[in-house]
Amino acid sequence: MLSEFLVTEINKVGAQDALPLHRLLYESLRRAILGGKITAGDRLPSSRKLSQDLDVSRNTVVAAINQLTVEGYLVSHVGSGTFVSDNLSKVSLARKQTARTEPGHCTQLSKRGRALAETFCASELEVQPFTPGIADFSAFPVQLWQRLQNKYWRMTYPDMLDYSSSGGYAPLRRAIANHLRMFRSVILDPSQVLITSGTQQSLELCAQLLADHGDTVWLEDPAYWGAAKAFMATGLKLHPISVDQEGIAPDAADNAHAPRLVYVTPSHQYPTGAVMSLARRHLLLAAARKHDAWILEDDYDSEFRFTGHPLSSLEGLDQDGRVLYMGSFSKVMYPGLKLGYLVVPKALITSFKQAHYDLNRPGQMHLQAALAEFIEMGHFASTLRRAKQSHAQRRQCLLEALAPCLGEHACITGAEQGLHLCLKLPPQVDDAALAKALGGFGLTVRPLSAYCLARRDIRGLVIGYGYTVQADIAASGKRIADMVASVTATPAAKKAGRKAA
Ligand SMILES: Cc1ncc(COP(=O)(O)O)c(C=O)c1O
Repeated sequence: MLSEFLVTEINKVGAQDALPLHRLLYESLRRAILGGKITAGDRLPSSRKLSQDLDVSRNTVVAAINQLTVEGYLVSHVGSGTFVSDNLSKVSLARKQTARTEPGHCTQLSKRGRALAETFCASELEVQPFTPGIADFSAFPVQLWQRLQNKYWRMTYPDMLDYSSSGGYAPLRRAIANHLRMFRSVILDPSQVLITSGTQQSLELCAQLLADHGDTVWLEDPAYWGAAKAFMATGLKLHPISVDQEGIAPDAADNAHAPRLVYVTPSHQYPTGAVMSLARRHLLLAAARKHDAWILEDDYDSEFRFTGHPLSSLEGLDQDGRVLYMGSFSKVMYPGLKLGYLVVPKALITSFKQAHYDLNRPGQMHLQAALAEFIEMGHFASTLRRAKQSHAQRRQCLLEALAPCLGEHACITGAEQGLHLCLKLPPQVDDAALAKALGGFGLTVRPLSAYCLARRDIRGLVIGYGYTVQADIAASGKRIADMVASVTATPAAKKAGRKAA
């Protein structure tokens, strides 16, 4: 019976996805068709009958049927009812279904596609307590932002609606240049600022324009997975270099793998939090000079510095224009804004603008205009000030909650800046299992090992404090501390801890 099948499917789909009822019914009916439960030419029970059998409203049934009709699964004949479309052969539908649902569909991906789909990446649940890298955007001044956007939407200049070939809205580029000159010691002219849809796009552009397929990119190990993916997608060879407490540490063996690009997060290594020392900065600049390589400086969270002054950028030390500096508005504003910037050496900016236009068709000029005014009127500075205060409190609360588990086998790194800290554990600890266990309590800490490309010698937890309700941090932090204490108390970990000491 179709109705019985539909009830079962609705329950099954509903258990996996919190969808509205009409979507559940739509999906269940679609499955009935794709699975051959009802076939071409079969007549559907009337919407009234279906609504009675399934105990749902008639509107729900009609919405589901309408959607399937629009998509061509069903046809309606006035006066005679709704039928499964004749145009859908069962064979092609079955194939379509198999391709969508079976793991074997990976074989249809390119080699690169498989590598991208199967390697490490963000957790599925992006925004949960302790998710690293996410700020508390619940305090964002939404109404003010809305007013500014409305203001620009009322100005109907056609060029605001078009793609932009100019590298971005000029006042925004100026505002960014001023900000970077003042706070990050980046030496630049506004014409060097290219507005992108965030760091991910800045990285892709650099890889596309500055390196060829098969070229080598040096990157930190452990690394920001987003960068690794951008380089994989552009066919670059990843050469991971271990990070220590002074940042990336290339040695003679690494120099045998001449890089075209070097990707670093010098102000706050992601995810360990190491700050690149001055000696390392000079060493890296010298290595880049030697190999005629470009350095990509990802300065993703330096606005959130909690102790001392903000650190100067690597770009500020660069004498030969081989550092491309990138920043993002994802942290101080909100991630879905999808706006960031890339500071490009003068000699390259025209090529970057052109290629960016051809590859990405940039736009969003209303958003850019609103953001420029947001910065110019001082709202960015005040939003940042408030965000820093509230993040400083969360950070302090988390540090206090974690304190009891610290000691011989556990230490915190990288807590001076940013939106996350790293709780380092002995190499024998199964950090993935630990993170999974904490996930069972709705806490999305990430295992440090999940960020590692080649190395197997570091373990720990990467813990964000941005998107965690302040009042919950003490209790949830205690849960983390208790679990960490229980795993570091195992004989293996104790032995490892003694060895490390
Ligand atoms: C190291 C690093 N760089 C950059 C970003 C931000 O990238 P986007 O501007 O694409 O949001 C993140 C986000 O979490 C990050 O962790």
